[in-house]
Amino acid sequence: MPIVIAIDGPAAAGKGTIAVRLAAELGLAKLDTGLLYRGVGFGVVANGGDPENVADALDVAKNLDPAILDNPALRSDEAAQAASKVAVIPEVRSQLLDFQRQFAKNPPLLAGGDAPSGAILDGRDIGTTVCPDATAKLFVTASVEVRAERRYKELLERGHEAIYARVLEDMNERDARDKGRDASPLASADDALVLDTSEMSVDEAYAKALEFIQSRMSA
Ligand code: DC
Repeated sequence: MPIVIAIDGPAAAGKGTIAVRLAAELGLAKLDTGLLYRGVGFGVVANGGDPENVADALDVAKNLDPAILDNPALRSDEAAQAASKVAVIPEVRSQLLDFQRQFAKNPPLLAGGDAPSGAILDGRDIGTTVCPDATAKLFVTASVEVRAERRYKELLERGHEAIYARVLEDMNERDARDKGRDASPLASADDALVLDTSEMSVDEAYAKALEFIQSRMSA
């Protein structure tokens, strides 16, 4: 059985950074599942549709080309908000489920052409819904103020104009939608290691994550 690592948590908690480092260390193929939802949300808006409309969102989800996942436009906050709206729709979630499970089951070759030792998926419902039998599950979180501060600084560094209060408001709005939806809400699996990175460095969080995964791999 290939190794499957599930990492869930709210936006800007640090799960993406931890996932990149774990993938490199353990030779895992990595899937950022938020990009799938961003691809759908962005596609709906680009078509002039409404991300809260089931037919509009499902149409894009059914025809999603994985090549769009490399589009830098998916990284914008507009794409994030649209993603969190289409992610509420159960039909959209089930449409994207198969791709994620196939990735976990048959991870693609690594960039250098080597066979991966397994897969690492990060998102909101990987440990609870997509891969409930994952080898190890992590729930990476941080206070909303710390996450908004990180996102605010990131926007400024990328040369965008940003207002902290607005970033905090957007973060709260997205958290409420991600946690409050009926279909696979953002939640920690019972058997996940919870890492609160509010007062932790990236190195510290990564070290704790790696130690936990290695303990699960040898269990
Ligand atoms: O991780 P992210 O910020 O790129 O995710 C964008 C949105 O996609 C997030 O607000 C909720 C949704 N999402 C989800 O519902 N389930 C996932 N597994 C991943 C993301």
